[in-house]
Amino acid sequence: MANTILVGAQWGDEGKGKIIDVLTEQADLVVRTQGGNNAGHTVHIKGQKYILHLVPSGILRKNKVCVIGNGVVVDPVSLVQEIEGLRKLGIRIDRNLVLSETAHLVFPYHRELDAQRETFKGKNKIGTTKRGIGPAYGDKAARTGLRVLDLINPERFKQQLELKIKENNEILKAFGAQPLSFKQVHAEYRAAGDYLKPFVANTVILLHQAVRRGDGILFEGAQGTFLDIDHGTYPFVTSSNTTAGGACTGSGVPPHRMDRVVGVMKAYTTRVGEGPLPTENAEIADMLHAMGREFGATTGRPRRCGWFDSIATRHASMVNGIDELAVTNVDGLDSVETIKVCIGYRDGAKRYDYVPNDIEALSRCVPIYAEFPGWRTPTHNARKWKDLPAKTRSYLKALAELSDAKLAIASVGPGREQTIII
Ligand code: GDP
Ligand code: IMO
Ligand code: MG
Repeated sequence: MANTILVGAQWGDEGKGKIIDVLTEQADLVVRTQGGNNAGHTVHIKGQKYILHLVPSGILRKNKVCVIGNGVVVDPVSLVQEIEGLRKLGIRIDRNLVLSETAHLVFPYHRELDAQRETFKGKNKIGTTKRGIGPAYGDKAARTGLRVLDLINPERFKQQLELKIKENNEILKAFGAQPLSFKQVHAEYRAAGDYLKPFVANTVILLHQAVRRGDGILFEGAQGTFLDIDHGTYPFVTSSNTTAGGACTGSGVPPHRMDRVVGVMKAYTTRVGEGPLPTENAEIADMLHAMGREFGATTGRPRRCGWFDSIATRHASMVNGIDELAVTNVDGLDSVETIKVCIGYRDGAKRYDYVPNDIEALSRCVPIYAEFPGWRTPTHNARKWKDLPAKTRSYLKALAELSDAKLAIASVGPGREQTIII
């Protein structure tokens, strides 16, 4: 397989996990390069549902090497729990999982600070997953973070953690929060360190050996383009580069070794957490929630929903260099009579055909819609392009054209088999 970067083209939860699982069949390695356990990637195989947070979704297929790259922030206790949970479901995890020794660690003070800052912000909160992601990347950028290398070096870890707990307890006290017990955190993290040590490696060297052998590598993006720290709807974003460039920095594989970028998007739009969502629509949200769909895989929060926004997805094609599109959740629109697609924004007299950077301007934007006739036929049994109703095909072709990329995959259900390769 050509080395492939897979990214979310919207606000996360586009169905990346499902498409990764499909594409993994052709790959030798699957690599996570950014984010942490704020991600929740769902894969359905033969009626069994798996939710992956830190472990690459490729782990569900046999004989694939899965790498947690240097750009990921790892909560080691949560990673141990995830590995144990997967093992209980019968998934083999041993030498097929590799953890970068330079990935940064998430600690309980990061989670506590995440929660405290959200409370402090009040109505201006970001709506984070409270997994400590922002504070952990903050420590990384401030050059005060601890890494996997430190975790598996008991003497060094003890000294470093003692200082970090002391410093962060002062900050927590200022927020009026409970200080943390060094003894408790140390014991928990040392146990996780011992458990994880056999998985730890220099993943940059490992990936370069794979590139030299000509292995096919799939880079599993987390979150989505509009949650990118640089290209998203700042400050309502996550703290990593979720766009294609993050795959290079987060793995050490250089840009000229990347062959293709696949963008995943839903046939409509969702977002979880705060921040602007121009096409948000209560009716479509009620319809999807009544179907039992669009509840967060990590936090269980109901996702905000809206019509497809081609201004956003075209922007995503531009900043990621998306070659191919995978459109998921096509079946979510099966019962809709008239489907709307946003083809421009209006802010008073001003019209935009791109996403404005100013968050206040974007929040004021009202979508300009094109309308498409609904197909009003169940699509979940379609397996080939020609099985889809003509109106569905027209709709999908229009989404690809408006998004400025080639339609490659359509997904009509959560199952592995409910996938149409075009
Ligand atoms: P990710 O974070 O991008 O991997 O996406 P999530 O797993 O958080 O959310 C996507 C949701 O849509 C999950 O519940 C998937 O099982 C589900 N899903 C993915 N593709 C389809 C599809 O084509 N149809 C339906 N009905 N569900 C889908
Ligand atoms: P996957 O990989 C959807 C959102 C949060 C919040 C913002 C910042 O499953 O697509 P954070 O905890 O990262 O500091 O929260 O980003 N968010 C996601 N939304 N899918 C995700 O991951 C997300 N990861 C973070 O809801 O708005
Ligand atoms: Mg998700």
